[in-house]
Amino acid sequence: MSLKQKTLDLKKRMHEALQGGGVQANEKQAAMGKMTARERIVALLDPNSFFEYDLFVEHSAKDFDMDKKILPGDGVVTGTGTITGYPVCIFAQDFTVAGGSLGFMHARKITKIMDHAMKLKIPLIGINDSGGARIQEGVNSLAGYGDIFYRNTLASGVIPQISVILGPCAGGAVYSPALTDFVFVVDKISKMFITGPEVIKTVLGEEITMEELGGARVQAEVTGNAHFFAESEDECFDQIKKLVTYIPWNNTKKAESFPKKTPNTKLFKIEDIFPTDPTQPYDVRNVIRSIVDDSDFFEVQELFARNIVIGFARLNGQTVGFVANQPLVLAGVLDVDSSDKGARFIRFCDAFNIPLVTFVDLPGYLPGVDQEHAGVIRHGAKILYAYSEATVPKMTVILRKAYGGGYIAMCSRHLRADFVFAWPTAEIAVMGPEGAANIIFRAEILAAENPDEMRKQKVKEYKKKFANPYVAAAFGYIDAVIDPNETRRFLIHAIEVSSHKDESRPMKKHGIPPF
Ligand code: HXC
Repeated sequence: MSLKQKTLDLKKRMHEALQGGGVQANEKQAAMGKMTARERIVALLDPNSFFEYDLFVEHSAKDFDMDKKILPGDGVVTGTGTITGYPVCIFAQDFTVAGGSLGFMHARKITKIMDHAMKLKIPLIGINDSGGARIQEGVNSLAGYGDIFYRNTLASGVIPQISVILGPCAGGAVYSPALTDFVFVVDKISKMFITGPEVIKTVLGEEITMEELGGARVQAEVTGNAHFFAESEDECFDQIKKLVTYIPWNNTKKAESFPKKTPNTKLFKIEDIFPTDPTQPYDVRNVIRSIVDDSDFFEVQELFARNIVIGFARLNGQTVGFVANQPLVLAGVLDVDSSDKGARFIRFCDAFNIPLVTFVDLPGYLPGVDQEHAGVIRHGAKILYAYSEATVPKMTVILRKAYGGGYIAMCSRHLRADFVFAWPTAEIAVMGPEGAANIIFRAEILAAENPDEMRKQKVKEYKKKFANPYVAAAFGYIDAVIDPNETRRFLIHAIEVSSHKDESRPMKKHGIPPF
């Protein structure tokens, strides 16, 4: 055959392989409101930037008549490309081919692109649309998942790993995402579960729909397995495009810096956001918006454990990770879920050289039987661990309440914050004035002619003495009590002078965080 003929033969083979599961299966996918694997990659990556590999990989299974079946590309598309100029390795499972199920060669394609990502030191994006381990391939598909989980773990903290759930994902198809840094879901399309409704019905006799069991909303609001929720696949891809601009390519780099922009202080004015009455709630996200570049705050896990707010923004063009108590929800307390949410984000920022800014306003850890029995001791300790372990620049601003364990946990000086600032409205104490007065002045209150009057007077006394930032400032636990309108200036300066921060922790194989 001439070169021309051979090239034509190649084109024919490519054309056949690119059909995926075929016209009918592709139409079925479209009818469900889902793009095909390649359409998804094209929509996410920069135009003409995708290069596909292993198109001609074939499955090797023989049992259950599998040797008579052709599964194009073995149900997964892999390659490299760029997103807004950033290089990435990517795979997308093709549900039109055997339900995107993971057989031996399918797994080999994924582990190969994962190995590439680790060698090239660039982010890995996995688009998951799969029924999990391919049943016909038995232990070989389980082995394939094991190889993927192992690599997810090795890559953790080395390169960013992003998972997108775009279909019904079962078994291993959700455990791999759970080991990655960010999980994206789309309403009505994403479903995640270890065992689906059929198995649940058989084993437990319980009836539940896929959506109720593990739909996108459930994962974003209830379980916290998902970090980003979108209404459509296109919106989801826009979220990923935005996320990659905030994070570095790998753990040896810093995130790209962007041109400096000022916040919109007309729209987000601290005097309008922050209430005069200390018992009134406010939206801490607006405080963040009032100080960050372009007032642009990219929130992570917006719908889960809303009593803590986490996300990325820029200060003078530099990426910063924000962790803030949210007084709008449960007065911003730390509980089981908010501790998990905060701790994981802190560890991501620390692994990827992103400075941390913490805004504090909380009455402490949430009391109650439910929380104690749900393990608030173990979960709450994660925040202590994550902040203590983190060596990136750590800046803390105490806006209002910083009581008890909450004061220590929210990146206090004692957990080695580099800079601790407090607004004049800050109250740093072992507990709130009412609770404290009831305990330490109990005898006087009981003995008084008018106990209520006495209680009020003692609360007032306590407030005067402790409900301010000056006692902590007198011990040097706070570096500066600042005008709230100076917050941006102080933080930018702190980040600038911390740019060569070099701090280490004792050498060890690894710590044992309270997982
Ligand atoms: C082989 C599979 C498959 C699988 C789906 N298919 N899952 N083939 N192995 N695991 C095939 C179907 O046979 C069908 O083929 C096609 O994919 C589409 O599937 P449907 O069932 O028609 O689609 P839908 O109704 O949308 O349901 C999707 C689904 C369901 C919810 C994912 O297929 C399902 O429950 N699959 C099994 C899920 C599961 O239990 N997986 C094993 C997990 S254990 P045809 O030829 O008819 O088009 C696991 C081990 C790892 O993953 C554990 C790690 C710790």
